Amino acid sequence: MYKRTHTCGELRKDHIDETIHLNGWVNTVRLHGQVIFIDLRDRYGKTQIVFNSEDYNGDFVAVKKLSMEDVLSIKGTVQSRSEGAVNPDMSTGEIEVAVDSMELLSETAPLPFVITDRESALEDLRLKYRYLELRTDELQKNILTRHKTYQAVRSYLSDNNFVEIETPTLMKSTPEGARDFLVPSRIHHGKFYALPQSPQLYKQILMISGFDRYFQIVKCFRDEDFRADRQPEFTQIDVEMSFVDEEDIYSNMEGLTRHIFKELNDVDLPDPFPRITYADALAKYGSDKPDTRYELFLNDVKEFTDRSEFNAFKSAESVKAIVLPGGAKYSRKIIDGLTDFVKKYKAKGLTWMKGENGKLSGGIAKFFDENLQSDLIHATEIKDGDIIFIIGDEKTVVEPALGALRVEIAKREGLADPNIYKPLWVTSFPMFEYDEVENRYTAMHHPFTAPHQDDIEKLETDPASVLSRGYDLTMNGHEIAGGSIRIHSPEIQNKVFSLLGLSLEDAKEKFGFLVEALTYGAPPHGGIAFGFDRLVMILTGSNNIRDVIAFPKTTSAVSLMDDAPNTVSSQQLNELGIQIKPDKN
Ligand code: AMO
Repeated sequence: MYKRTHTCGELRKDHIDETIHLNGWVNTVRLHGQVIFIDLRDRYGKTQIVFNSEDYNGDFVAVKKLSMEDVLSIKGTVQSRSEGAVNPDMSTGEIEVAVDSMELLSETAPLPFVITDRESALEDLRLKYRYLELRTDELQKNILTRHKTYQAVRSYLSDNNFVEIETPTLMKSTPEGARDFLVPSRIHHGKFYALPQSPQLYKQILMISGFDRYFQIVKCFRDEDFRADRQPEFTQIDVEMSFVDEEDIYSNMEGLTRHIFKELNDVDLPDPFPRITYADALAKYGSDKPDTRYELFLNDVKEFTDRSEFNAFKSAESVKAIVLPGGAKYSRKIIDGLTDFVKKYKAKGLTWMKGENGKLSGGIAKFFDENLQSDLIHATEIKDGDIIFIIGDEKTVVEPALGALRVEIAKREGLADPNIYKPLWVTSFPMFEYDEVENRYTAMHHPFTAPHQDDIEKLETDPASVLSRGYDLTMNGHEIAGGSIRIHSPEIQNKVFSLLGLSLEDAKEKFGFLVEALTYGAPPHGGIAFGFDRLVMILTGSNNIRDVIAFPKTTSAVSLMDDAPNTVSSQQLNELGIQIKPDKN
């Protein structure tokens, strides 16, 4: 093998006449009779190499047989390209290498898909051959962005006195929201470890241990339903700080986020980041992770529908609308499609009207007399050529359904500029959500989140109205981080457990170690965790979390390349004392 003297992205005019060695993969082959052009590729770039039957010292027939993704080692001389052949799109586009001799280091089997074109194969096939897909420019770039993001995070946090500490991956199963992945213990028959849903308990304990500023780039595991921005194992930038309030968390984490975006994308994010309360976010955007790159706000139109002859909304708790400028172009078919779309969000239907000649027409317009139309037009600023979409129902249906419609319409209309990044803190979350199925309160963030100072009394009298000291950081419609100021008083912690339906005994069994640790001098503390994969997704402009993870799982939690999960031998099961039921139920 000719060990490389340069990478495939390195040679320039300055190297002309030098004898060099390159190693890499055959990216493309072009046969021109007695001359063969190959783009040789490695992760640094591509270089055009030329085999000319007259100058080439080796077997020209063997060169003719080369195919895409063969691995070569070549020796040759750098020469300038003829004027018409210069390629300004390639960093090495001004030169080429006249090959003197070549060694075929590795011959590829026939490829299952065309590597230069990711779209040429379905995702399942690409995931089975992930090592091939990882050779594509797009994934190489994403993985490098991910690498640089780790470095930016570590350097910023370390420079700001945060200490990186690893916490266990085999821990006790503690309900945190999602389902745990369990690992059976061989030594302790019948007992299980759980993989952490997050290092939440450990990082709080590290504060009690006096570490003051902790961080970890850490794998978390959740056995839940997966979507475009969720994986069963994902990575967090996990942070915890002592002697802080919300403002300290905001300013430190804004600093980190600004640093990352500047380092990676040369983007200056605002200072400070804007904030919105949870209630306002839902009222205005219909979402607790609003994409603020475009407007399309939700308008309350109940007073107008109440005055109309349209009776379906009269008993509705809430009636809200979005006006889409220029939306009157939407055909019946498109509107029917959008109606089906909002039904997925529990809306019973989608009503609409269009602006035309200073009036409203179509849809439910006939139920609004002239005066009412003009009042509604005035209030919502509908113009000719616009469309207004209206949903009436329970508030908990109207807002999320219109919020989802808002995002769907923005997607259709291309309203979100991919080069703009809009961070937004969402604050003042309710402390509890009522779970209708289980008939009990559940924690909106997690059970260690502190209630708002002014609401502590209401824990007894009106838990549903208690606000928490939780916060999320959102960007472009994604929740990129979530955290809270924690409870550091054992009394309040126990009170919250009991509201969550955990008896003192249950709580001791599940979280006893934390509750006990809180009694030994716990500093006030708080923290946050960023979804690292989501952050990298935004930095790379991807819209699929799998595109920023080297070896992701499918939406059904399978790794197609290594075939996990899989069965294990009966000997392994015996050692664990586990017997598989023939039928799951
Ligand atoms: P939370 O559950 O909000 O908080 O998680 C923090 C962030 O992690 C990301 N995230 C995910 N990313 C990919 N796939 C998933 N399945 C997934 N689930 C969550 C999100 C989210 O904002 N211990 C607390 C943090 C704290 O309170 O400090 C926690 O884990 O971007």
